[in-house]
Amino acid sequence: MTLIDGKKTSAEIKAEIAEQVKQMLAEGKKAPHLVAVLVGHDGGSETYVAHKIKSCEEVGFKSTLIRFEDNVTEQEILNTVDKLNNDPDVDGFIVQLPLPKHINEQKIIEAVSPNKDVDGFHPVNLGRLVAGLDTFVSATPSGIVDLLKRYKIETAGKHCVIIGRSNIVGRPLSILMSQKGIDATVTVCHSRTENLKEIVRTADIIVAAIGKPGFVTADMVKEGAAIIDVGTTRVASTETKSGWKLKGDVDFDNVAPKCSFITPVPGGVGPMTICSLLKNTLKAGKMR
Ligand code: GUN
Repeated sequence: MTLIDGKKTSAEIKAEIAEQVKQMLAEGKKAPHLVAVLVGHDGGSETYVAHKIKSCEEVGFKSTLIRFEDNVTEQEILNTVDKLNNDPDVDGFIVQLPLPKHINEQKIIEAVSPNKDVDGFHPVNLGRLVAGLDTFVSATPSGIVDLLKRYKIETAGKHCVIIGRSNIVGRPLSILMSQKGIDATVTVCHSRTENLKEIVRTADIIVAAIGKPGFVTADMVKEGAAIIDVGTTRVASTETKSGWKLKGDVDFDNVAPKCSFITPVPGGVGPMTICSLLKNTLKAGKMR
């Protein structure tokens, strides 16, 4: 069994991005500029955005954080999105999700200019992905594909079972995995899937993205399968200072001995998602 080291792989990719930024600067171009919009004080969102900003610094990007309190109006967010869309100094920006309930997330996503949508959430970018056109691919699916490629995990003709059909992970990943060049045969399972265990047991590659800690158990895994765990649920823990730790969707201890490759949580997919955001921002910077 090989433990997939997302931290190490993401450090390698960041070094490659930093090199490209150096080149851009040497050619007299500006460093890419990412703006993150953060609403409220959700613990997970605070952590993710802090990592995104820190990673920008690491690779030499310019970054800006715009903060709003929970009681911000939808119109105020829309006004900010409009400003960022029209600011030539900004290459790409993200509005961190989830947003408070009184704000329509889809409306915000659709207000972002597709050219600056480095999250790849805009329907235009999702549509371009479906059509096999060049686009901003959302961070988690793109990070997963990078991990599979860097660890030389065979995908052509293999059965990839994705558990979860979210617009952010499961659905775009299903499209990427079946694209020419990756060539997997893809099944998407969800809350209404019948015989889920039996289906997952036929998988060569399992991607668990449902947010249910320990959902994938050893009896659901074929000997030699590769496992990608996207789950990051915070569970109470006496082992950490914070009082919580991240738990994946896979029962790691019992599943790991059966598989060929597995991602840990934390340190697997998580660090890769930030790399994908950086890659998209670099691409946006080069498009300027
Ligand atoms: N919330 C959880 N993941 C993401 C992400 O990739 N982008 C944004 N904007 N919000 C998120």
